Amino acid sequence: MVDPKTQSASQLEPSIQTIDDVIKGASNVNAVPLWPQMVKYNPPKPNPRCVPHIWRYEEVRPYLVRAGELVKDKDAERRVLMLVNPEREGPYTTDTLYAGLQLVMPNETAPAHRHTAFAMRFVIEGNGGFTAVHGKRIQMNRGDVILTPTWNWHDHGKDGSGPMIWLDGLDLPSFIHFPVHFVEHFDKPRYPAESVDTSQSPIVFPWSKMKKQLDDRPGEWVAEEYRKADGSYVSKTLNPSAERVNKGASSRPRRETTSSVYHVIMGGGYSNINGEKFEWKEGDTFCIPSWYQYQHFAGPNETVYLYRFDDKPMIEALGFYRWEGMDTEDLVT
Ligand SMILES: [Fe+2]
Repeated sequence: MVDPKTQSASQLEPSIQTIDDVIKGASNVNAVPLWPQMVKYNPPKPNPRCVPHIWRYEEVRPYLVRAGELVKDKDAERRVLMLVNPEREGPYTTDTLYAGLQLVMPNETAPAHRHTAFAMRFVIEGNGGFTAVHGKRIQMNRGDVILTPTWNWHDHGKDGSGPMIWLDGLDLPSFIHFPVHFVEHFDKPRYPAESVDTSQSPIVFPWSKMKKQLDDRPGEWVAEEYRKADGSYVSKTLNPSAERVNKGASSRPRRETTSSVYHVIMGGGYSNINGEKFEWKEGDTFCIPSWYQYQHFAGPNETVYLYRFDDKPMIEALGFYRWEGMDTEDLVT
């Protein structure tokens, strides 16, 4: 009797003779050859699927304001226009980041809930809004950054007159790979909360404080991250920051494995993203895919302030963070 281990494959299975037989046959048993697709799975450089894009505030805002009239109070939590990348379906602004514009009208409440996703908000316009996070009610003012850490009960509301619009930043695309995002709704519209002093809260970062930090530093272009009091990232996934670019000046050109979403707080200018020029002004939001080279140029008339969030904490934690020109001699083994 012939030992099957010493038989050649063609003796064992006469139908497997050629390389085509292997490729087609193996695929039929859900075993796919790597070698024809080596470059696809091992590309020579990062391979983002999203593209750079800009959402102009004056174009998007009218739809949001009209939605404020048509989408009622109980759905206020969902009264969001998602800033969706033209090359991706679903809640993607970049491959790893979600951004949306949310509107809360006077005297309404977005119902309380909590979820796995981490959320941050940057207040674009309006004052007198509040967000309550796990029993602490915090005032929101223009330019503030407010965190909603994972699994904290939260609701939002608005007193007084005029709408409030903010830019949501979430890590939602992560949940494609980790399908563990879920939401619980509180059984009342508001989670019980007491008002707290905004200046003492670890989850609110007033714009006045960040602007002073930027202005106190020397240089034509400076960037500052929002960090916890102990210096650590505000989240395991997302990293907010702000930049100042003096009039007529520019940032340093950068290319890195993080992707980012930028929002223009004040001023006008343009960004070069892989050689393509994107002009922007106050209120606009734009995105930069990973490994696209980018540089910001302030216009001639006024100092520019930019808000940004990126995926640096998770990219770093996974060991994926690199920037062009990064030293490769000190790799940890
Ligand atoms: Fe939420």
